Amino acid sequence: MHPLQCVLQVQRSLGWGPLASVSWLSLRMCRAHSSLSSTTCPSPERQEDGARKDFSSRLATGPTFQHFLKSASAPQEKLSSEVEDPPPYLMMDELLGRERKVYLETYGCQMNVNDTEIAWSILQKSGYLRTSNLQEADVILLVTCSIREKAEQTIWNRLHQLKALKTRRPRSRVPLRIGILGCMAERLKEEILNREKMVDVLAGPDAYRDLPRLLAVAESGQQAANVLLSLDETYADVMPVQTSPSATSAFVSIMRGCDNMCSYCIVPFTRGRERSRPVASILEEVKKLSEQVLQLIHERDNICKQIHLPAQSGSSRVLEAMRRGYSREAYVELVHHIKESIPGVSLSSDFIAGFCGETEEDHVQTVSLLREVQYNMGFLFAYSMRQKTRAYHRLKDDVPEEVKLRRLEELITVFREEATKANQMSVGCTQLVLVEGLSKRSATDLCGRNDGNLKVIFPDADMEDVNNPGLRVRAQPGDYVLVKITSASSQTLRGHVLCRTTLKDSSANC
Ligand code: 5AD
Repeated sequence: MHPLQCVLQVQRSLGWGPLASVSWLSLRMCRAHSSLSSTTCPSPERQEDGARKDFSSRLATGPTFQHFLKSASAPQEKLSSEVEDPPPYLMMDELLGRERKVYLETYGCQMNVNDTEIAWSILQKSGYLRTSNLQEADVILLVTCSIREKAEQTIWNRLHQLKALKTRRPRSRVPLRIGILGCMAERLKEEILNREKMVDVLAGPDAYRDLPRLLAVAESGQQAANVLLSLDETYADVMPVQTSPSATSAFVSIMRGCDNMCSYCIVPFTRGRERSRPVASILEEVKKLSEQVLQLIHERDNICKQIHLPAQSGSSRVLEAMRRGYSREAYVELVHHIKESIPGVSLSSDFIAGFCGETEEDHVQTVSLLREVQYNMGFLFAYSMRQKTRAYHRLKDDVPEEVKLRRLEELITVFREEATKANQMSVGCTQLVLVEGLSKRSATDLCGRNDGNLKVIFPDADMEDVNNPGLRVRAQPGDYVLVKITSASSQTLRGHVLCRTTLKDSSANC
């Protein structure tokens, strides 16, 4: 038996409790002739001697019994997703992906979708590349589900197909490695390795940080498994990478595992004890996603550069009474951040005049916010108490009606002044306008929206089409046209149309 045939490691986070009985980690030699360092498909006989020598020398510098004791008693601080200290029996470079291409396939629930992103994030940092082409893959990882028998049967069937892929693989390529991740790895453990000899890697739902090491071991032709469950692993510091570029949604997972123990359900046994992610790390991830949205708005011509950011009031005191969850300062900071991230962004907002307890000083604060932000569009309302609301039960609608209306008028006046100033910056510019149809006010005018979602009115005249020179056309709803802006009010821009164009061809200059 090879000395590394079985390496047992004590998992710190699972020293006790019922799950300790399901914790299991082993590295098994499936081909005793393979070397840990082999990266190509070795001929067993030729490799054997060299491998042993290499192995013996490495064992000399390998882990001692003390090493495992040390890991067992280490404090439970989070491991970083990056590989810090490689196990002494593996060289650091063996933990790197070396641009091997990974194909990930996800089965089952939304947690698995998120886990796929976590696994990929970890592998990406380790130097693996991603492929969506099965034929191109050097590593195929199935993120599996055990919830019902059929879910597992699907994976067994898939494994049979992949087996064919593995056997047919030309010797000129690095050997294909196949991994089973997630719940099925956890539930069946070595049964998978025994039944499907071509499975190289098993990683349970709490073992994805170990994937680079498991794959490094598999690289040598050994099977490698880590199905230890943890009491505290939440991958809080691993920022999931969206696996599908065309995905329209992203998952932010806030907890893992389940303690409910419903009598029919395998989940507590495959995903382990329930644990929540620290709130700060959830917030950080959501912030990053919001950042990505801002970046997309900035980058993409087909996304209009307008953000509605309802402030409701410019006074922190009133915002607190409204229970809005932010202060004036936080709001202003966000506005500055958005303006920096999306130059030329158009901002709109909602405001309420005369909320319960609003003083003249609070009102002045709202006026100053309107001046400071200079919104392009605004929706301003006098407060009206609504039954059933918290304000109805707890606060007093104490701003007299005439004061509410006077303050509303003042807000409207200031908003208009500022919006007019902001919109007048467009005069003289040529803007790309998405045509909506006839103007409501005049049958001879058309109406459309610019990139800031502002209404642009222009006479319905014939024009050239940039893609068909010489052809005169009339703009239709859905067309893009270039409009030279000649005047601006607080609500609309006016101009004359220059030509019909497309998003791609447009040469708007502001
Ligand atoms: N009184 C006045 N305005 C209100 N709004 C919501 N509730 C009230 C109310 N009771 C306004 C807010 C919100 C918009 C849709 O309507 O500004 O953002």
